Amino acid sequence: MKYTLAFCILWCCLTTYAQKKAIHLIPQPVELNQLNGEYLLTAASTIVYGQQDAKDIAHQLAQKLAVATGFSLKVVNSKSALPNAITLYLNATPKATLGSEGYELEVLGKSVKIAANQPAGLYYGVQSLLQLLPTDIESQNVVQRRWPIPSVRVLDYPRFAWRGLMFDVSRHFFKKEDLKRHIDYMARMKFNVLHWHLTDDEGWRIEIKSLPKLTSVGAWRVPRIGDFGELAPPKDGEAATEGGFYTQDDIRELVRYAQERNVTIVPEIDVPGHSMAALAAYPELSCTKDPNTKVNPGSKFSEWYSDGTFKMLVDNTLNPSDEKVYEFLDKVFAEVAPLFPSPYIHVGGDECYKGYWEKDAGCQALMKQMNMKHVEELQAYFMKRVDKILKSKGKKLLGWDEILEGGIAPDATVMSWRSLKGGIEAAHMGHNVIMTPVQYCYLDYMQSDATLEPYVYSTLRLKTCYDFEPVPDGVDTKFILGGQGNLWTEGVNTLSHAEYMLYPRSWALSEVYWSPKGSKNWENFVRRMETQMERADLAGINYARGAYDAVIKPQLKDGKLTVALETEVPYLDIFYSIDDSVPGRYSPTYANPIEIPEGPVTLRVITYREGKPIGKMIILKRDELLKRAGKK
Ligand code: ACM
Repeated sequence: MKYTLAFCILWCCLTTYAQKKAIHLIPQPVELNQLNGEYLLTAASTIVYGQQDAKDIAHQLAQKLAVATGFSLKVVNSKSALPNAITLYLNATPKATLGSEGYELEVLGKSVKIAANQPAGLYYGVQSLLQLLPTDIESQNVVQRRWPIPSVRVLDYPRFAWRGLMFDVSRHFFKKEDLKRHIDYMARMKFNVLHWHLTDDEGWRIEIKSLPKLTSVGAWRVPRIGDFGELAPPKDGEAATEGGFYTQDDIRELVRYAQERNVTIVPEIDVPGHSMAALAAYPELSCTKDPNTKVNPGSKFSEWYSDGTFKMLVDNTLNPSDEKVYEFLDKVFAEVAPLFPSPYIHVGGDECYKGYWEKDAGCQALMKQMNMKHVEELQAYFMKRVDKILKSKGKKLLGWDEILEGGIAPDATVMSWRSLKGGIEAAHMGHNVIMTPVQYCYLDYMQSDATLEPYVYSTLRLKTCYDFEPVPDGVDTKFILGGQGNLWTEGVNTLSHAEYMLYPRSWALSEVYWSPKGSKNWENFVRRMETQMERADLAGINYARGAYDAVIKPQLKDGKLTVALETEVPYLDIFYSIDDSVPGRYSPTYANPIEIPEGPVTLRVITYREGKPIGKMIILKRDELLKRAGKK
């Protein structure tokens, strides 16, 4: 009897422990209360939707659950609760706290309920529910196992309305199916805007029926493999065979697919700079009108100077003084606008070189006529004309922060990328702002030591993304619509590489844009990230593990070179050597900055956790350390 009692107590402790297994959601919800117990998903569970607007979401949930569980769950419409059901219903009286994307989720022993004001909220409740299921739910094949969902009450809604990811499909073309997979995965992390960078110097990717050369010419470039920016320019007569574009039917299909996942696609037509592909098709639209203009295959055509100025060695700029340019843009936007339900069209405005405008008689005459003192004002003139065209199509103008230069259209929205400064200035002027500064949000940058990553000119580590605060001090929050991460694809030519760049950094950004500011906790995020990594492994999603690599911080002081070592992920051991041995658990453990003696010394560093290597080995010669420490 004594033993039976002891066994019962032990059993209760063990089951309580099992039931209280840590819950790892990304992004972190506003409120999550874990209760005792669980709901067991079985083949007999039913999915109930209360209103027709919830039907699609209920079916999406059933389809997703079927893959790993093998269950063909019944999906039924019912106004009243059914036993053992997962119920999705829209609040008859909206709850103000939930807004349009919030939800309440309650998991109890015999029921799961998701309630929201709008379908978007139900969709996000479902995403949280999927993350409550065992990680095996991401398996692409049926797994025979129990499918418990821990009992919880969740109240959740986003901090920002704009939670975006920008995807550049100009520098490399990505298939429609790639885009769908990308949309799927961004929606899981509660991102709701896909900013689609559709045009640039390296390819025009959207069919415009009234301007067929934009895609018959502008979507194709000569094939090259190697470091983007260093590739050979097109040779005379060489066939342009690399590229692709989306037909208007493709676009309608993708827009619908995204809408079903609460993602708005915002198209970007980048003008007046970044227009070489358009000019390859219609060279008469530039100042130089060079009939030999070709779509750029990744060759160098610009020079960048240390003061931030630059020069385009090939004219990639539309001519703001030519009425034909506005006729062209009117045709483009007349076809772009109806394809996208987004109220915004992004019109670029970034990195526009004005050197050809300065030399052009038409531009000079326009400046004189308009009493302009500075060539920047020509860009402002251009953007105001574009704003008028967009308004005539029922759309609002969104542009990179350069649109502030020389005067901005009164109701333009600014995407602040060069830093937070443009966003601050715009918000103070009463403009809406999307924050996406390079130092926190550029997902094309390297994420670990430069010796371990495909080379990019800058680095953005995971923790830096996580630390981003989109509302600067002194700025009225109401003007900050939200933020986004940007994936430029000069160095990214496959979806799996895109995923490597996107994850886990975009998971960190999803939390920045969704979760309450006060809920941030890096250590806790890392634990939840590790669960997401398990899920990604099962789902066949690529991601980077650079956050486990050591951070190397060399310093040169009074001629003495020392190296401090850090880790982003907490509780790792760092082992190193400077004696040409391979570092491991029996090497010196890093405690204090290491002095690197003179001579042909190599520093080797590796991170471990619980006795096992977890980061990659970093190998740096003294000369490289000196260079990084700033030695000229
Ligand atoms: C940009 O990165 N040129 C917006």
